[in-house]
Amino acid sequence: MDKAESINLKMTNHDSAGGTPGNPQPPTAPSRHDVHKMFDRIASRYDLLNHLLSANIDKHWRQRVAQLLPDGDNLSVLDLACGTGDQLITLHETGRVGQGIGIDLAEKMLDVGRKKISRLKLNSSLSLQTGDAGKIPFGNDLYDTVTISFGIRNMTDVNQTLCEMYRVLKPGGRALILEFSLPANELLRNGYLFYLRHLLPKLGALISGDNAAYRYLNETIETFPHGSAFCALMTNAGFKAVSQTTLSTGIASIYQGDKK
Ligand SMILES: C[S@@+](CC[C@H](N)C(=O)[O-])C[C@H]1O[C@@H](n2cnc3c(N)ncnc32)[C@H](O)[C@@H]1O
Repeated sequence: MDKAESINLKMTNHDSAGGTPGNPQPPTAPSRHDVHKMFDRIASRYDLLNHLLSANIDKHWRQRVAQLLPDGDNLSVLDLACGTGDQLITLHETGRVGQGIGIDLAEKMLDVGRKKISRLKLNSSLSLQTGDAGKIPFGNDLYDTVTISFGIRNMTDVNQTLCEMYRVLKPGGRALILEFSLPANELLRNGYLFYLRHLLPKLGALISGDNAAYRYLNETIETFPHGSAFCALMTNAGFKAVSQTTLSTGIASIYQGDKK
């Protein structure tokens, strides 16, 4: 069994709560089964929080994902755990997306996204609907690209979601996964962990009014596999030409893999 397979990725209730060594915390975070309820609670403030807490870097990261779309125009795109639709809209801005669909379990996040899509007059090409990324409600071999941004970390069964992404991709299609990771440089990693453990939960709670939401964020970022461990998971799910692009010194990464 390789390193990635040995990581238990079938998350159970509060499996990540309780903190990591050196980071003792009470189990206040939601389980991955009901994490979408937490996103429903913060839906109206989600975009603002995202941009504030990342100093707008998230916009740049989403554009980097868009630059990795496979060749061709009029692409069919599925964005999983789409939230308020920012990744889908950014992909559409390339002018290379024909039809794009986003799915998520949090109705209130979808509502915010639908309003945004209407405001931008993109209803003829983009739509959002309720759906589970772990059990994608669409047939096989349909999409040129399947994306998931800051969503794979929340999945109850990461391997199953990766297999589902592979299933719905057309042969020749590409999966693009944007997710937080940790810098390889020890000094940077320690500084970032300090921010994650001590500053982000306080800032997030202050702005969102939700204490659990940003504690959950730091816990899942620290415990989720990144780098070669995550690439191995994609390879195990069947993807070829799997690679990682690190962003902003490694605090986020884009993983890509093709269905041959
Ligand atoms: C951090 S947000 C990311 C939203 C969006 N992709 C973005 O880039 O801003 C994570 C999203 O995953 C959604 N989610 C969690 N579990 C899900 C599941 N099993 N299927 C679909 N969406 C899920 C949540 O409701 C939430 O909207």
